[in-house]
Amino acid sequence: MPTPRKIVCLGAGYVGGPTMAVMASHNPDIQFFVTDQNEARIAAWNTDKLPVFEPGLDEVVRQIRGKNLHFKVITPQLLAEADIVFVCVGTPTKEYGEGKGMAADLQFTELAVRDIEKHCKSGTIIVEKSTVPVKTAEAILNIVNTQDNNKRFEVLSNPEFLAEGTAIKDLQNPDRVLIGHAETEGGRAAAETVKALYTAWVKPERVLLTNVWSSELSKLVANAFLAQRVSSINSISALCEKTNASVKQISRAIGTDARIGSRFIEASVGFGGSCFKKDILNLVYICRQNGLAEVANYWQAVIDMNDYQMRRFVSQVIETQFNSVSGKKIAILGFAFKPDTNDTRESPAIYVCKRLIEEKAKLFIHDPQALDHAKQDLKGIDSTVTYTESIDEAVEGAHAIVILTQWKQYSELDYTAIYAKMKKPAFVFDGRSIVDAQALYKIGYNVMQIGIAP
Ligand code: UGA
Repeated sequence: MPTPRKIVCLGAGYVGGPTMAVMASHNPDIQFFVTDQNEARIAAWNTDKLPVFEPGLDEVVRQIRGKNLHFKVITPQLLAEADIVFVCVGTPTKEYGEGKGMAADLQFTELAVRDIEKHCKSGTIIVEKSTVPVKTAEAILNIVNTQDNNKRFEVLSNPEFLAEGTAIKDLQNPDRVLIGHAETEGGRAAAETVKALYTAWVKPERVLLTNVWSSELSKLVANAFLAQRVSSINSISALCEKTNASVKQISRAIGTDARIGSRFIEASVGFGGSCFKKDILNLVYICRQNGLAEVANYWQAVIDMNDYQMRRFVSQVIETQFNSVSGKKIAILGFAFKPDTNDTRESPAIYVCKRLIEEKAKLFIHDPQALDHAKQDLKGIDSTVTYTESIDEAVEGAHAIVILTQWKQYSELDYTAIYAKMKKPAFVFDGRSIVDAQALYKIGYNVMQIGIAP
C-alpha cells in the first residue's frame, strides 16, 4: 500500500485521543481525524480544556490541532476517505446476557465495524486498538469481508500499552509496539504500513509483528501479569500487618532481584482502573469457555485478592474508629484510581467511600482532578458527602484522614498544622504508603499504613 494520506480513529477517549495526537505529531504529512459520535466530547477536544487529563497532552494537541490533527463527529464521508481506521471504542465488561459481568461487551466495536464495512473503500486497513477478546479480529473479518460487498479489508491487532497518567511518556517511548496480522501476503503488507507509522519515532526493533491471536491475547496477559504482581504483594501486606515485617522493606528486598524487578510491587489499598479487572475477567471467561477451570480460577484469585484488600482496609478504618464511623467526619484524600489522571473507573475510592457512607460517616472528598467523576460515581448515595477543592475544609474537625490516591501534594502537606485542626485522637489511614509514618507519630497522629503492623 502507498503511504496512507488519511487516518481515522473511531473513539475519542483515553486511548484514541492521546495515541493519535502523538502519532500525528510524528507523521506531519498524514491527516489524522479523531472522531466520536458524542458531540460534546468532540467539542471538548476542540477547546483548551481537553476531556482527558494527561500530563503533556495539551502541549502536543495545541501544536498540531487544525494542522494534521482534527477532532470531528464521525461522518460517512470521513470513513470513505480513510486509508486506515483505528478502532478505539470502549469495550466495557458485558452487563447483560451470556458472559454477563465477565466477557467484553463488543457492541460498540460491532457498530463501528458495520459502519466501516458500509462506508469505507475496499483495501482500507482496520486496526483494532481497543482491548478485545481473542478472536475478535476473526469476528470483524466476518462482518467486513462479506460475499456480496465486493470489498476486501485487512484487520490488524495493535493493542495499546500506555498507562494513564503517563500516556504521553509511554507513547513517546514505548517498551514495544505490537502488531498482529493475518499470516498472508496482504496481512504482512498491512502490518508493514502500520509499522511505518510507528517507526517515524520508535526504533524498528521495538515493533513486534506476531499473528493476530497472539497480539490480542498478549494484551490481556500483560495486564493480568501486572495486576497479579499487585495482588501478590497485597497478599503479603496482610501477613506483614500480623507480624513485624514491613511490606515496604520486603518490596525493596525482593525488587533488587533482577528477575523480579522493582516495579509494580507497591502494596496498596487495591488496584483500580478500567483495564486490570476488565481484562482479567475477560481472560477468566475465555479460559472457562475453553474448559480450563483451573486456569480460570488461578486468574480469578487475582481479582478476589484485590476485593479482599479493599474490604480489609475499610474494616481497619471502622475498627480503629472504635467500631463506628457513624456521624464522624472523615477526610478522603484522593479519588482517582492513580495520580495524574482524572479517571475514577474501578477506583478503590469508590468501594471505600460507598462502604463508609453505608456506615453513616460524613465524608469530605478532595481530589485535584477527579471530583466531577467522583460526584457521578457516588450519585444518589452522597447526601452525607461534601466534595471540596480545599484540603483545609476537608480536614477541619475531621476524626481521620484516609489517603486513597498518591497525589504528590498529599505527601507534602503541613501535617503539623493539619493535626491542630483535627479532632483528637487524630488518625491517618494511608492506603498508598506515601506519608512519613514516623514523623506523623511524633506529631501525635495514629497512623495505619498498608502492610505495616500497627
Ligand atoms: C494499565 C497497564 O499498566 C497499561 O500497560 C495498559 O495499557 C492499561 O492498563 C490498559 O490496558 O489500558 P493503567 O490502568 O492506566 O494501565 O494504570 P497502572 O499504572 O497499570 O495502574 C493500575 C492500578 O494498579 C492503579 O490503581 C495503581 O495504583 C495500582 N498499582 C500499580 C498498585 O497498587 N501498586 C503498584 O505497584 C502498581
